Amino acid sequence: MKTKITELFGIKYPIILSPMAFVARAPLVIAVCNAGGLGLFGPPGLTLEEMRAQIREIKSQVGGKLFGVNIMPVMPKVKELIQILIEEDVPVWTSGIRNPLTMFNIKKPKNVIFIPAVGNVRQAISVEKSGADAVIVQSLESGGHAGLIASSVLVPEVARAVKIPVVSAGGYADGHGLAAALALGAEGIAMGTRFAVTQESPIPEGLKKCYIEAKDTDAVLSAVWDGMPQRAMSKMKHYRGWWTHPWDAIPTLINSKKSFNASWKEILENARILMEMKVSPPQFATGMALFQKAIATGDTKHAFAPVGQVVGLIKDIPTCRELIERTAAEAEQVIKDLYTNKMGR
Ligand SMILES: Cc1cc2nc3c(=O)[nH]c(=O)nc-3n(C[C@H](O)[C@H](O)[C@H](O)COP(=O)(O)O)c2cc1C
Repeated sequence: MKTKITELFGIKYPIILSPMAFVARAPLVIAVCNAGGLGLFGPPGLTLEEMRAQIREIKSQVGGKLFGVNIMPVMPKVKELIQILIEEDVPVWTSGIRNPLTMFNIKKPKNVIFIPAVGNVRQAISVEKSGADAVIVQSLESGGHAGLIASSVLVPEVARAVKIPVVSAGGYADGHGLAAALALGAEGIAMGTRFAVTQESPIPEGLKKCYIEAKDTDAVLSAVWDGMPQRAMSKMKHYRGWWTHPWDAIPTLINSKKSFNASWKEILENARILMEMKVSPPQFATGMALFQKAIATGDTKHAFAPVGQVVGLIKDIPTCRELIERTAAEAEQVIKDLYTNKMGR
């Protein structure tokens, strides 16, 4: 399958592993890159030393293939992470929620491919102006911090508004989705939730089973999780925010200081960025703790796991290679069948 995205990244299939905090760690990134896709690493939750070690691990295992790292400007120590990306020669940079290049007035290094995620047309035009080589559009269906516009509208609108290749993220699990994204004007797809339910994914087996049993309506978009619109699954009945879980908020603040090796000044600066976005810092910190808890233990009775609406479509636990190869083969078949009127599953 050849598209502008396969050409830009030198990959076999137009399929990207979305960056996911606590999930898209080195083993998943390596598996996706070695199966012909592009793996994007999600560093939140790791110390700077751990991030560097995982980046080196990926590099040593992918035999020169491209891989990327996510920059989240809402996390502390983001400037130090960018410094690591430069020192370790990370070939692809991606970003979520805000654009780190404009936010910190950073010039993209010449040898770096920058593919930030955005949620609307204005942001897509803005990242293109700031030097992005491609753009991921995160739609309403997405797991995690979702966009607010459905992909059937967002993808064609962005594809018309920018010249750089567009990748559609949110709601993809199979070849029908890939074919639909290509038809809407995307040059590839990024999958988060689907890759979280693979053999190489680090989430507990119990949580994978829980995803397989889930329905489309179980993935709830709400700001209660961490203060920003986030789509997640949880069995917590009366969770309204950090004040209903203050015992999680305080240890998280202390732990985030320790795990990022950040000074109080840096923590306060981070809080300032969150408040600028009208996000309550304790709400965000508690959200990160409850998210990390669900991913580490599989407990969704007292925590929440970010997942997309696509969770209702996921019914098995393939390897990344099986998933990527069957998605591409199915998309090719769907595209052929559209012409011969043989559609249907
Ligand atoms: C568990 C999980 C963690 C995520 N963490 C991040 C993150 O750290 N940074 C980010 O930019 N996006 C994050 N996302 C959003 C994904 O990058 C992606 O946009 C989304 O998963 C696509 O929707 P899908 O889950 O329907 O495939 C996360 C999503 C999930 C499901």
